[in-house]
Amino acid sequence: MIDNTENRTADPVWFASGRSLQRALHRVLSDSLRVSDGVPDSIGAFVASLNSAEWLMNEPSQALRELPASLQPCLSQALESAPRDSEPLVAVLDALGILLPHASWIERQAGPGQDDRFVQRHRHGLITGPGGLFECPTLSLGVAIMAADTCYPYHQHPPAEFYLVLSQGEWYREDVGWWSPGAGGVVLNPENCVHAMRSAEAPLLALWGLIHPR
Ligand SMILES: [Fe+2]
Repeated sequence: MIDNTENRTADPVWFASGRSLQRALHRVLSDSLRVSDGVPDSIGAFVASLNSAEWLMNEPSQALRELPASLQPCLSQALESAPRDSEPLVAVLDALGILLPHASWIERQAGPGQDDRFVQRHRHGLITGPGGLFECPTLSLGVAIMAADTCYPYHQHPPAEFYLVLSQGEWYREDVGWWSPGAGGVVLNPENCVHAMRSAEAPLLALWGLIHPR
């Protein structure tokens, strides 16, 4: 834990990076929805409103949880290899480059009967929502980083979710099975569906968002 208060003043660069991330995400998700079938209404409505949502700077906390040293090379490697073949993706990655060094990183614990090897091999950097850099009532946004050869277990939750995939890796959804969306792909998970993800030879990097209807 380190004191992060001084870094988390209402810096205009931070604010601009948040706004840039929001705009770029809106473009990536809108483009993806245009070519996707069967998009859940909750996700479509959320994406339509994303650009006008207000992200407020969260109050600085006294301490943040740093990314463990063992995962720092994974994050660097994944960011370096991430796709920069469209303007919105470049904007997403540039904004993350500014924001992530100040994010708090949390881990999910293994559930009953789950292999707990993934716990030390993943973290989530919080961008919006509780513990995040920005407050946004309709979106909890974070960045998942996982070491190579790691499976993030099957789970489900009431909010619908999207992933902007920023690396190689496989995703699972109960009605689809396992598939590879590819770097730059978008994964949409309806409310309460069972889903999971896993990395192979390379670290897995993805931006995820949990959608909270108003
Ligand atoms: Fe999830």
